Amino acid sequence: MSVMNYKGGVGKTTLTANIAAETANLGHRVLVIDLDPQANLTLSFYTTTEWQEELRENRTIKRWYDGDSPGQKVPLAELVVTPPRVNERIQDTGGRLDLIASHLGLIDIDLQWERSSTAATTSTRRPENIFLCMTAWPTHYRHRSSATTTSS
Ligand SMILES: Nc1ncnc2c1ncn2[C@@H]1O[C@H](COP(=O)(O)OP(=O)(O)OP(=O)(O)O)[C@@H](O)[C@H]1O
Ligand SMILES: [Mg+2]
Repeated sequence: MSVMNYKGGVGKTTLTANIAAETANLGHRVLVIDLDPQANLTLSFYTTTEWQEELRENRTIKRWYDGDSPGQKVPLAELVVTPPRVNERIQDTGGRLDLIASHLGLIDIDLQWERSSTAATTSTRRPENIFLCMTAWPTHYRHRSSATTTSS
C-alpha cells in the first residue's frame, strides 16, 4: 500500500501511520518502511530520544544502504523493530505493527545517487537495488495478507 502525493505537507505521513495502526488493529501483520530522510513516519512511533538511543546506530534502513554493496550484507529482517507504544494499544486480534526506521542521513544517499546518475557511471547503487529493497521482505511477510506501507 502506498500513499502518494507530490504536494508537501498534505498529510501523507499522518495518513500512513494511521492506516498502518488501524490495519494492525484489525488483526493484520503490518510492516511500515520509512524511506523518507525526514523520518517523520519513524518519529510517529518513536520519540527522538528513543530513535537516537535505540535505532540510530544499527536499526535503520540507512544501514542497508551503507557500504560498498547495498542490500548485500544486511538482511532487512535484521532492521525490523516493533514500536512498543502503538503495539500496546492494538487489540488482541493477532495484529502487529513493525517498522523499518528511517535515518536523517538518507539524504546523503539520495545525493550520492543523484551524482552517480548524472555522471552516467555504472554505480553499485543503481535502481535495481531499490527493486531489491521492495522484494527482499523477511519471509514471514511474504506469504501473508499483511499490509505493507510506505510514505514519501
Ligand atoms: N487530517 C488532518 N487534520 C489536521 N491536520 C493534519 C491532518 N493530517 C495531517 N495533519 C497535520 O499536517 C501536517 C503535515 O502532515 P504530514 O507530515 O503528514 O504531511 P506530509 O504530506 O507527509 O508532509 P511532507 O510532504 O513534508 O512529507 C502535520 O503537522 C500534521 O500533524
Ligand atoms: Mg511526510
